[in-house]
Amino acid sequence: MRATLIDGKAIAESLREEVKQKVRERIDKGLPTPGLATVIVGENPASKVYVRMKHKACQEAGIISVGHELPKDATQDEVEDLVRKLNADPKIHGILVQLPLPAGLDEEHVLNTISLQKDVDGFHPINIGRLAQKGREPLFIPATPAGVMYLLEHSGTPLAGANAVVLGRSNIVGMPVSLLLVSANATVTICHSRTKDIPGIIREADVLVAAVGIPEYVRGDWIKPGAIVIDVGVNRVEDDTRKSGYRLVGDVNFDEAAEVAGAITPVPGGVGPMTIAMLLRNTLRAARLADGNHVE
Ligand code: GUN
Repeated sequence: MRATLIDGKAIAESLREEVKQKVRERIDKGLPTPGLATVIVGENPASKVYVRMKHKACQEAGIISVGHELPKDATQDEVEDLVRKLNADPKIHGILVQLPLPAGLDEEHVLNTISLQKDVDGFHPINIGRLAQKGREPLFIPATPAGVMYLLEHSGTPLAGANAVVLGRSNIVGMPVSLLLVSANATVTICHSRTKDIPGIIREADVLVAAVGIPEYVRGDWIKPGAIVIDVGVNRVEDDTRKSGYRLVGDVNFDEAAEVAGAITPVPGGVGPMTIAMLLRNTLRAARLADGNHVE
């Protein structure tokens, strides 16, 4: 393996330690303990796993977290009434509605109901809109894209003028990460299911962010020698040699890419842990906003 490993797990751990310290300092000063509320609608097993991990991380950081679960047939009004109740709750500084919502619910309308100051996911249409505009800043940056940018900065990747290719255009990762890369002065190409010659485009990438959800889609010979590869994919593939019967792989064929890239994130242990660390950071930021402090 020639590439340097970007150790998201270790980087996330030190961020989480930093958040924990700042939470402790707040409490010592008599300021309110940051509080996060999560909302799950329906029975999506992956959502439940993710939200459980978020609560555990909050607990370890000294952040209060309160989980709310609504049945899969909850109405739009029921979901939004809960969000409004959380908006009005002074002990809750951040609100996270886990996506995807069950079919039939209007996701944009639910996200629009979340108070801007409590939008720790950064998915409120105004926060996303600000991300897309020059000279404007959202109150919160979505956690996974913020984690990707942190890993790029932490690994010393020059972004100004770099060719960055983002594979995937989802609301949660692909599109916001593309906007952040543009803000960092990269030249950004977004590839998606209708893009022609994806391997040819990736071969020009100094920075590749893969977020398509297709196991080991990107092959080693698509990678430009020395490129920085950030793999956001978390895909289960069957593996009879494991007790669980599966293993996790990214959107990039790691073994092949690691022979060519300059640096690469592993799966698991790359972007995944950063998402949670950034959510904790955003929740602390929400508590500071509620104090009325100027927050950088
Ligand atoms: N579903 C997948 N990733 C996320 C995330 O970061 N936040 C929320 N709310 N839902 C998700």
